Amino acid sequence: MKVTVFGIGYVGLVQAAVLAEVGHDVMCIDVDETKVEKLKKGEIPIYEPGLAPLVTKNYEEGRLRFSADPRVGVEHGVIQFIAVGTPPDEDGSADLKYVTAVARTIAEHMSSHKVILDKSTVPVGTADKVRAVIREVLNARGVDITFDVVSNPEFLKEGAAVADCRRPERIVVGTDNPEVEAWLRELYEPFNRNHDRMIVMDIRSAELTKYAANCMLATKISFMNEIANLAEYLGADIEKVRQGIGSDSRIGYHFIYAGCGYGGSCFPKDVQALIRTAEQVGYTPRLLRAVEDINNDQKLKLPQYISRHFGEDLRGKTFALWGLSFKPNTDDMREASSRILMEELWKRGAMVQAYDPEAMNEAQRIYGHRDDLRLMGTKEAALQKADALVICTEWQSFRAPDLDAIKQALRQPVIFDGRNLYDPERMYKRGFAYYAIGRGA
Ligand code: UGA
Repeated sequence: MKVTVFGIGYVGLVQAAVLAEVGHDVMCIDVDETKVEKLKKGEIPIYEPGLAPLVTKNYEEGRLRFSADPRVGVEHGVIQFIAVGTPPDEDGSADLKYVTAVARTIAEHMSSHKVILDKSTVPVGTADKVRAVIREVLNARGVDITFDVVSNPEFLKEGAAVADCRRPERIVVGTDNPEVEAWLRELYEPFNRNHDRMIVMDIRSAELTKYAANCMLATKISFMNEIANLAEYLGADIEKVRQGIGSDSRIGYHFIYAGCGYGGSCFPKDVQALIRTAEQVGYTPRLLRAVEDINNDQKLKLPQYISRHFGEDLRGKTFALWGLSFKPNTDDMREASSRILMEELWKRGAMVQAYDPEAMNEAQRIYGHRDDLRLMGTKEAALQKADALVICTEWQSFRAPDLDAIKQALRQPVIFDGRNLYDPERMYKRGFAYYAIGRGA
């Protein structure tokens, strides 16, 4: 099938590459010409396992193309994906300016029936807005072309985006037209084998499903962080509690890890956006507000432990930091706990020596101008002559470090672990002052 994808970000590029891989003819459009030119040369704008070879192969074989010309894109696809960003407005609502701009572009250039598919995470009611924008432009053009608007939210995780997209757990489709359902069944056929993963519903329910999923996951995390904080008061160990409750199949082991807070481009933004949506319709979202508050406080947990150990004034102190990305297997630092941590340390006069397996360029881009940040080439180098080690991301390579080497490199054997990677007993026996989340620190 001929497909056009507007927006070559995480969602758009991964989806486009995976659709091309199974044989669809995919055209990607982005307003950023530099990005388009780079992609044509095989330069992939994001780090995502498996993505680069997939894009290159499908581009070389002609099933995946890139252009900055929207006219070409509108002409190409029967199905037009909108996969542009929906950044938060000043008040936390999702800003739909990019989504409506794409809708307008499609309407300006379309000359035959199109299925416009919302892939971006958009508030309930957006499909109606997109429909209204398209109708308005078509009316202004004085043409009478039929079109459909569909909600088809994406559930991929950064770091596992290609795998998630190839083997989706569910394909949620919100439509009011049974004919469109048939087209989407054909489009997603290669991903819908073994058993039917397509869940078809009305448009508004599909739009809300996306927010409900992310907010549910964020709620699990904030709940565990609350219990972790309580465990500290009660002298209990959150890791033991996690195993104890995860064994209940109704609760499950996923997404119940306490830590220094959730980050990324999705959870913080989506929880906030659903709060705003609720408020706009006159509903008080008490639980969602608590989820957000707990998370904001949780990002200050490590700085609090640091104050407890070293006092408020950190002038003259250097901290080794392992992990800058908001989670492992990505270079993404949006809303990362590491950023709040560094900013707190800097406020108190400390120097940071940071290392991350993938996010060094991103850190350089964001904080390259600072003279109180040293970006180090290895995790060992980050430790040299630092007063303590702080861990913000659970990269695999941090899980079994050489503790003796850490002890030798640091000025003092102190570790602040925001991801509960090590066994506290072992750390105490090895002579470390070890602060973890909800483990009796
Ligand atoms: C999230 C969802 O998991 C995806 O299903 C969704 O499609 C995506 O948002 C989206 O809306 O596009 P992602 O932002 O890539 O995916 O990241 P997650 O893997 O969900 O992790 C989010 C944050 O939660 C990370 O900072 C992670 O460290 C934290 N986390 C996760 C915890 O603190 N504890 C846990 O138990 C799990």
